[in-house]
Amino acid sequence: MRRKLFVTTALPYANAPFHIGHMMEYIQADIWVRFQRMQGHEVHFVCADDAHGAPIMIAAEKAGKTPQAFVAEIAAGRKPYLDGFHIGFDNWHSTDGPENHELAQDIYRALRKQGLIAERTIEQFFDPVKSMFLPDRYIKGECPKCGAKDQYGDSCEVCGAVYSPTELKNPYSALSGATPVLKSSAHHFFQLSSQRCIDFLQQWTATPGRLQPEVLNKIREWFAADDAGHVTLADWDISRDAPYFGIRIPDTEDKYFYVWLDAPVGYLASLKNYFGKIGKDVETFLADPAVEQVHFIGKDIAYFHTLFWPAMLHFSGRKTPDKVYVHGFITLGGDKMSKSRGTGLSPLKYLEVGLNAEWLRYYIAAKLNARVEDIDFNPEDFIARINSDLVGKYINIASRAAGFLAKRFGGKLSGDLGVEGRALLDGLRNASAGIRELYEEREFGKALREVMLLADRVNEYVDRHKPWELAKQQGMDAALHDVCSTCIEAFRLLTVYLKPVMPALAAQVEAFLKVEPLEWHDATRALGAHTIGPYQHLMQRVDPKQVDALFEAPAAATPTPGGEPLAAEIGIDDFAKVDLRLAKIVNAEHVEGSDKLLRLTLDVGEGRHRNVFSGIKSAYKPEDLIGKMTVMVANLAPRKMKFGVSEGMVLAASHADEKAHSGLYVLEPWPGAVPGLRVR
Ligand code: 2FM
Ligand code: ZN
Repeated sequence: MRRKLFVTTALPYANAPFHIGHMMEYIQADIWVRFQRMQGHEVHFVCADDAHGAPIMIAAEKAGKTPQAFVAEIAAGRKPYLDGFHIGFDNWHSTDGPENHELAQDIYRALRKQGLIAERTIEQFFDPVKSMFLPDRYIKGECPKCGAKDQYGDSCEVCGAVYSPTELKNPYSALSGATPVLKSSAHHFFQLSSQRCIDFLQQWTATPGRLQPEVLNKIREWFAADDAGHVTLADWDISRDAPYFGIRIPDTEDKYFYVWLDAPVGYLASLKNYFGKIGKDVETFLADPAVEQVHFIGKDIAYFHTLFWPAMLHFSGRKTPDKVYVHGFITLGGDKMSKSRGTGLSPLKYLEVGLNAEWLRYYIAAKLNARVEDIDFNPEDFIARINSDLVGKYINIASRAAGFLAKRFGGKLSGDLGVEGRALLDGLRNASAGIRELYEEREFGKALREVMLLADRVNEYVDRHKPWELAKQQGMDAALHDVCSTCIEAFRLLTVYLKPVMPALAAQVEAFLKVEPLEWHDATRALGAHTIGPYQHLMQRVDPKQVDALFEAPAAATPTPGGEPLAAEIGIDDFAKVDLRLAKIVNAEHVEGSDKLLRLTLDVGEGRHRNVFSGIKSAYKPEDLIGKMTVMVANLAPRKMKFGVSEGMVLAASHADEKAHSGLYVLEPWPGAVPGLRVR
C-alpha cells in the first residue's frame, strides 16, 4: 500500500543561523523521508521559520530593523545549510505568512466556539519606559533566596532557587533598566484544565505506537493530580499584549497570540503554501484518514507537541498528529551545545574546511536510535567511523573490483557469479526487510551496523578470492570476472541500503554503475550481465587536519590600531597645513550645563590667552590639569559653541568606540618644552 506522509521538523526561531542541533534534527528527518520515498510512498516534507515572539521583536529593534526585515534576513541565510547538507524539504515557509495568520485565527475561533477559551485578568510586570509587559526573561533583580544581584525573573543562577518575577527584590527591566510596575491586563486562556481536554489528551497520548515510552513517562508527570486525586492540567495563557510581533487575536485591538500558539500552526501553513505551489488541495489531503502526520522534534519542546498541539487540533475539528518523534540533543565531546549559544561545531565552517556533508550525515545516523537520548560528536570517533567503516569497508569494495572489470572485461559484469558469489548476494538481499524495519523505526545506528556487517562479509569474500592474484594467474579469467562482478553487485546492494543517509554519493554510484536511481526494491533484484562505467574515485578519507581546522578558533581579523582603520594617506603638505603648538594650561574649570566639556585657558606664547572648550571632562579633573603643558591645533578657525567661542582644539587620544572604551588621554610634551613651540 502506498502511504501518504506529511512530515515536519520543528520550526526554528528566525533570530539566528542554524547550529549543529538544527542540522542533526533535519538530517534525522531527511533520512527517514528519503527512506520512505525509496519505498515509493508519497511524502510531503516541510518546514518554516518561527518568526514571532518578544525576543525576535526586541532583537529586531536592537538591530534597527522591522521584525519583518529582520526575519527575512535570517530566512535568506537558510539555503546554504539546507543544500549543503542535502536536506530535501519540499517547502520552506514562515509563520508570518498569510496562510498562518488565517489558520491560527481559524483555529482560535473554533476553540472559542467550543467554549474552550476563557478571558481572565492577570497582573504582570510592565516596563513604564518601554510601555510594554515584560516577559519573565526580561525582568531581573536580586534573588529572593540568596540575594544574588542581576538574576532572571524565573530562577537564580547562583543558588538555583526557582521563583516568580514578582518575588525578585529590586526588580528592573532588562530592556530599559526601569523599575517595572505591576499592571493588570485581560488574557486569553486555552482551558486545558477542562475535563474534555483532560479526557481527550489522556486517550490521545496513550494510543499505542504514537509516542515513545520515555515521552509517555514524562507526560504522566505533567498530568499532575490535585488534592482530591483528580488529574489536572493548567490552563494555557495564549495571549500577549501589544507591542508584540505576532498574529492578532480576532475581535481584539491590541492582543496577539503567544508565539507558541501560532508556531505549530506553521506546519499546516507551510503545507498549505506548498500545495498552493503544486496545485494540490490541502483540506482534501488532510481530510484523508490515510494521511499520516509525523513531527520530528527535540526533547525540550515535547510539552507543546504532545499536549497543546494535539488539543488545539482536535478541538478545532482537525486531524491530530499520528507520530511525534522526539530526539535528544547533540553534545560535543560530552558538553552540551547550547541551543541559544550554538557554540561548538559550526555547520557552515564544517563545509568551508572541506569536510564532506555526507560524512556528518553518516556519523549522526550511526549514532541515532529511536529513543530520546543525547548523542555525542567525538572528533576521533568521527574520523575512525568514516575512515574505517565508510571508506575502508564500503567504498573499498568498489575500488577493489572496478579496475579489473574495466581493464579486463570492458566493464561488463558476468551474468553467472558462481555458487559462492550467488550465496553471498542472496544473504545481502535477504537483509533488506530487516534493514527496512530498522529505518522505519528510526533505529539508524542499528541499520548502519547491519550494513557494515554485510560489507564485512563482502570484504571477507574478496580476501578469500584475492582478485589481485587471480589477475596474475593463467586461465583464471572467468573466476576473476565472477569475483569482481559479485563485488560490484554487492556494492550496488549496499548502496541501496545507504542511500537514505548518503543521497549524493548514491547518485555518483548510480552514474558509475549506469543504473536508474535506486529504489528500495532494487535490493531484491539482480543486475545481471550489465555494463558499468569507468570507476572514478567516490570518496576520500577524512584528513584529521580538516577536523582540527573545524575546531580551531577563527583567525583574528587583521588588527586595526586602536580599533580603528587608518585614515586615507596624505602628503607632507597636507600635514603642514595643521599648525600644532605646545600650550600651557593656565586655567581649567567646569562648564555649567555641560557634562562633557571643560573650559581651558591656554597660553600658546602669543602674549594673550586663548579660550578652548575640550570634551575631556569624563577623564580629567580641572585641578589636575592646571599648570600642565599640552598640544593644541592652533590654526583651527574659531568655533562658536553653546557656551562661548572655542579658539582651537586640544589633542587627546581615544578608542574608536568611546562608549565601549572609556580611556581618554590628553597629550603632554616631555619636560623642558615651553609654550608656543611648533610640533612638526
Ligand atoms: O524551540 C524552538 O526552536 C521553536 N521555534 C520550535 C517551534 S516548533 C513548532 F511548533 F513550530
Ligand atoms: Zn539565589
